[in-house]
Amino acid sequence: MSSAEIRKIRRVEDLGLSTSLINKLREAGYRTLEAIAVANVNELASIVGIPTPTAQRIINKAREALGLRFMTALELKKERLHIGRVTTSSKKLDELLGGGVETRTITEFFGEYGTGKTQICHQLSVNVQLPKEKGGLEGRALYIDAEGTFRWERIDAMARAVGLDPDKVMENIIWARAISSDHQMAIVEEAMDLIPKENIRLLVVDSVTGHFRAEYPGRENLAVRQQKLNRHLHQLGRIAEIYDVAVIVTNQVMARPDVFYGDPTTAVGGHILAHAPGVRIQLRRGRGNRRIARIVDAPHLPESEAVFIITDEGIRDIEE
Ligand code: GTP
Ligand code: MG
Repeated sequence: MSSAEIRKIRRVEDLGLSTSLINKLREAGYRTLEAIAVANVNELASIVGIPTPTAQRIINKAREALGLRFMTALELKKERLHIGRVTTSSKKLDELLGGGVETRTITEFFGEYGTGKTQICHQLSVNVQLPKEKGGLEGRALYIDAEGTFRWERIDAMARAVGLDPDKVMENIIWARAISSDHQMAIVEEAMDLIPKENIRLLVVDSVTGHFRAEYPGRENLAVRQQKLNRHLHQLGRIAEIYDVAVIVTNQVMARPDVFYGDPTTAVGGHILAHAPGVRIQLRRGRGNRRIARIVDAPHLPESEAVFIITDEGIRDIEE
């Protein structure tokens, strides 16, 4: 199989198996490529009732589809060239990000309240629907709203401003309100099924940390909270990678971390992605509607800053 063909495999249904075999796999609990990729070959063969070599072929295909294989640096380069990017509607911010937010990556926007994290999430949910030549991916967005701050009115305004039909744009944003950290994790679990079926190319979690902080306050809960949050982020990272989706998470950090002594996730930076690959953008307030974005610890991007503004139309560059 060519790598282009392998890249098309996103679900068990794409493995080229017969419907009855797919059903057998499903019934036996092998519902995802990952479940198949890590299956024991003899177990899979006997449970589903197929010969061992066939089982091995299915497992190998699933592993290839997930990228669990050796590749040369050149192949890796070619793979990375396929990465999609979504514009933020600010050239300066796009430049900072290396051309927009990337698929197969988690991008974290962190900063104090009112720094524009939610506005950026709205803008990207609109822009992902744009045609490729306009900075989109012609895909849909899945918006996990943990704070209840999603506003369709903003989507409407931003859609009009980029010349898209607002009702169509709203139809292409699937919204889910997460009411607790467990609920948030369950939604992401379900999203594994939804994403490939619904052509979702952008997944937003706004904010990713709020429920975890509220439910596990203080130093005494820190270990368990971080453990759960890590699991959640790991899951999001896998979604980004497997489904070629841009994952955007936000993280509110306090202005004065010293007030919240003993809680490192409230410290500037938060370090929630410290161990997860991704891009981290710190936002802070400038004069008026200006906001300053700074990239932090991105291995492939230089540490620099960009200024943008929040307008009625959405995220924009400062007019010079
Ligand atoms: P928290 O969720 O509280 O941490 O803040 P946040 O970083 O998500 O901030 P958010 O993205 O909600 O940004 C709020 C800011 O965006 C406001 O202070 C306004 O300056 C700006 N904003 C929001 N809606 C509009 C709008 O309709 N028009 C304009 N011009 N600005 C807006
Ligand atoms: Mg917000």
